[in-house]
Amino acid sequence: MGNALSAFGHPWVPHQEDHPKPEAHEKPHFNVPDVFPGAATAEPAPVQGTDKSLSKRAQKRQLKEERFRARKKARRAVEKTIRKQRKKERKSERLEALAHCDPEERERILKERIDIMRAGRVAERAKREHVRQLIANARKYAVCIDLGWNAQMTEKERKSLARQLTYSYSALRKSVEEGLQPLALSIVGLDGLMKPKLTSAAAGWESWPVTLSEKSLQEVHGKRKLVYLTHDSEHIVEELDEDCVYVIGGIVDRNRLKGATALKAREMGIATARFNMDEIVQMEHGTRVLTVNHCVEILLQVANGMSWKDAYMKVLPERKGLASSIDGAT
Ligand SMILES: C[S@@+](CC[C@H](N)C(=O)[O-])C[C@H]1O[C@@H](n2cnc3c(N)ncnc32)[C@H](O)[C@@H]1O
Repeated sequence: MGNALSAFGHPWVPHQEDHPKPEAHEKPHFNVPDVFPGAATAEPAPVQGTDKSLSKRAQKRQLKEERFRARKKARRAVEKTIRKQRKKERKSERLEALAHCDPEERERILKERIDIMRAGRVAERAKREHVRQLIANARKYAVCIDLGWNAQMTEKERKSLARQLTYSYSALRKSVEEGLQPLALSIVGLDGLMKPKLTSAAAGWESWPVTLSEKSLQEVHGKRKLVYLTHDSEHIVEELDEDCVYVIGGIVDRNRLKGATALKAREMGIATARFNMDEIVQMEHGTRVLTVNHCVEILLQVANGMSWKDAYMKVLPERKGLASSIDGAT
């Protein structure tokens, strides 16, 4: 596993739906201009059936998530068609304009355009490489995702975790592109169960410029000061300590493995801490147990000087009902 150049990971999930919710009886629809007839016919992929072994509530949640994903996929397809159509239109406008030029002028314009495009590609590659270097060289604010839980998860959960890892890396890359300082990210305990899932979620993950290791948490970071982040801790993570490695459990368990990380930390003699959401924001619904990528994103914002309150408000999806902050909380 190295730091070779590669394409970047998958786009990060948007936090809110920007289309009105369809009524239960109707299919989701999209406001696509009539000028794009191909796009207007795009429909969400059919939602698969729910897992009957789950509780009614979990089935409902699963269905909701699947509908959300199907709508997002359909929306992306529509956007892609629109982009393609606009590109085509711009090209024919250009050709139309060129048709009126004399051959010399036409050649000059075409050459100029090729040069501009070439320069743009070179600049884009250089920027991408610069971002990769910044991420690879990050030393401050170490965050480790501990994948030592793969054997305790189902196929589906591992698949979901793989997606969360790609969202985490993607969020890191995008924020560095926007000028934030990177976290020193490591992902440990990569095994034969997780690797294929990661490959399906994000081709090229092997060359993410972060520490990727098959070794365990103890083997990679055993000599450092570790803090296992867990919802079940009685301690709160207040200010981030530059000397610590903050460990996030690489787990998707739909609440099945309650207290698992707290127990592991106790057995390893590692300190634990939880996020202080209870004290800072009012959550109308949803669980306070966060996904791996939300933990990474919150730490990323706080490491860049954002208050915990603002980081929760920014990162946590509206679906959790983060209506407001508690008075006076920061
Ligand atoms: C989906 S949770 C897994 C919950 C699992 N049952 C456990 O025992 O940790 C994924 C990881 O995110 C981190 N996490 C989630 N919510 C947290 C919170 N409120 N405070 C601190 N860490 C949290 C923990 O590291 C956790 O292992």
